[in-house]
Amino acid sequence: MQPILGIESSCDETAAAVLDGEGRILAEAVLSQEREHAPYGGVVPEIAARAHLAHLPGLVREVLTRAGLGFGELGGVAATGGPGLIGGLIVGSLFGKGIALAHGLPYVAVNHLEAHALTARLPGLVEGGAPFPYLLLLLSGGHCQCVEVAGVGRYSRLGSTLDDAVGEAFDKVGKLLGLGWPGGPALERLAARGDPAGFAFPRPMLGRPGCDFSFSGMKTAVAQEVARHGSGVLPAALVADLAAGFQRAVVEVMADRAGHAMAMAPRARLLVVAGGVAANSAIRTALAEAATVWGLPLVAPPIRLCTDNAVMVAWAGIERLRLGLSDGLDFAPRPRWPLEELAGGGA
Ligand code: KG4
Ligand code: ZN
Repeated sequence: MQPILGIESSCDETAAAVLDGEGRILAEAVLSQEREHAPYGGVVPEIAARAHLAHLPGLVREVLTRAGLGFGELGGVAATGGPGLIGGLIVGSLFGKGIALAHGLPYVAVNHLEAHALTARLPGLVEGGAPFPYLLLLLSGGHCQCVEVAGVGRYSRLGSTLDDAVGEAFDKVGKLLGLGWPGGPALERLAARGDPAGFAFPRPMLGRPGCDFSFSGMKTAVAQEVARHGSGVLPAALVADLAAGFQRAVVEVMADRAGHAMAMAPRARLLVVAGGVAANSAIRTALAEAATVWGLPLVAPPIRLCTDNAVMVAWAGIERLRLGLSDGLDFAPRPRWPLEELAGGGA
């Protein structure tokens, strides 16, 4: 297969990548819009859409130049078609379709969650390629779910969050502690200086059957603790203890939920973690330990492939094209697009 161009624009990262037919990365680029959204404490959809429109054409030209390729040498275009913010999805999808139409290339509308789910199969991450079936924990700012991956397009959701996504909980608690947005990375750094036993925050769902998650109770407990200290600036040591206590609660719940998920998917051969929260080393360590109990290796792709990127989109495109799956140019971007609604090939 000739090289594939991947485009990602579903949230606040504009990204483009070119992979060769085997999935080796020829060039990749990610432009984070973090600075544009930070003053608003979260992603503003209209700002995101305009930023994708402003940056995507330059980014695609840049990756093609670095890969030393022209549009005519591509074997296909894969662009995120959902789920995500509709403005960005329209920008990326139309751009991808335009290239496909102009150069007579196959077009793949990639499901963003499938792209995260298949990242572990990129060449070089697991010797010989990650084998199906495996268990995926998708932990990001927008998603928190546990999925059995049986093949391309073959997913069963074993559990998901009942309220906030785990990254969203980190961001909300980060905001309560005055850490700016996104709160996850700053909160992890702060937690390293605090006492995780200083506060006994609730551990929602711990020990419950299944592997659903819930984080809003933890967040409320932190808010109540912050409120108890009045309106002044919180002492630094207290903020560190709150961060450490919150992170410990998340870690314990995460390990417990992963254990339940592995019990529910006895055929799984790997535990894979993806999404921005996979950057958290306390969570990675706890998941690795939980996986060991079940005799499974934990696969955590490098952080830059865990957070939103276009390499995973191009790779999902390659997996689909290999199975003869592509999409028509009449594909309409889907803000909501559950994994279970995907059609696929086979294991
Ligand atoms: O996957 P991602 O880049 O974007 C989407 O949400 O789709 O994930 C971003 C999320 C944010 O909520 C951020 O706070 C969280 O991942 N995050 C972390 C860490 N790094 C990023 N959460 C906890 N600890 C971290 N080190
Ligand atoms: Zn994502």
